[in-house]
Amino acid sequence: MGILVKTNSIKKDENARKEYWEQQFGTSYKIGNITEQNREILTSLVKNIKPGKMLDNGCGDGRLKKFYEGLGWKVYGTDISENAIIQASKITPLNLVCSLSESLPFKDSFFDVVFSWRVFHSLSLENRKKALKEVDRVLNPKGTFIYSVQSAEDTHTIEKYKSMGIEDSHDENSYVSNMDVEGKVVQRLKHFYTREDVIAEIETNTNLKVVDIQTYEEKSGWNKDNQMYWIIKATRQ
Ligand SMILES: C[S@@+](CC[C@H](N)C(=O)[O-])C[C@H]1O[C@@H](n2cnc3c(N)ncnc32)[C@H](O)[C@@H]1O
Repeated sequence: MGILVKTNSIKKDENARKEYWEQQFGTSYKIGNITEQNREILTSLVKNIKPGKMLDNGCGDGRLKKFYEGLGWKVYGTDISENAIIQASKITPLNLVCSLSESLPFKDSFFDVVFSWRVFHSLSLENRKKALKEVDRVLNPKGTFIYSVQSAEDTHTIEKYKSMGIEDSHDENSYVSNMDVEGKVVQRLKHFYTREDVIAEIETNTNLKVVDIQTYEEKSGWNKDNQMYWIIKATRQ
């Protein structure tokens, strides 16, 4: 799965980010099973929404795409990693495409829900803005954006990244670190959001307003440590 190793320089090349995910999904990497705790929160997030078209933006191995299909949604899955899409196609073969969150291959207003679980905190500041504008574009006027990102209240995880990585001087609370994935060292980026940061980022870059924000803790990530996330729901009303 990988171990964090000390980083001395930042690769400016955005391909480094793709390389990281290709490497992860080219190995025995497992995102994790859907726990009872996951099931409860994932179900409650769409409780008052009539099933329609959903985008699982950064779908990884397809576990959550499959979960929402089970609840009656028609789910499309996109991911930066071809290896992830190959893995996803084994459990949920329809409507998968390898593409970036920063440039989605769908027409305007196509989705009732855009869902994105633990993806946006892996993007650079510039790419997060592009990706949010894309969400706004593909979401229909009555649509809902539901996503989760790493929380800056998780000081334990931040300390770990701080000690091994380099803070991005242009993006407070963002760390670049090296990960040794089965002998190959690849670089990853992680942004930790404060509550104010999440709300400001989405409301500045889209026409959406945050209607709900909650904290969520689970054992996750490369070492299955307890980590803290924000879960955000945003709509246009
Ligand atoms: C922590 S995994 C979560 C996967 C999935 N959402 C889940 O929870 O099961 C993050 C995912 O985001 C994808 N990803 C990272 N950067 C991306 C980008 N710029 N565009 C699309 N997908 C991206 C990765 O390949 C990976 O599958």
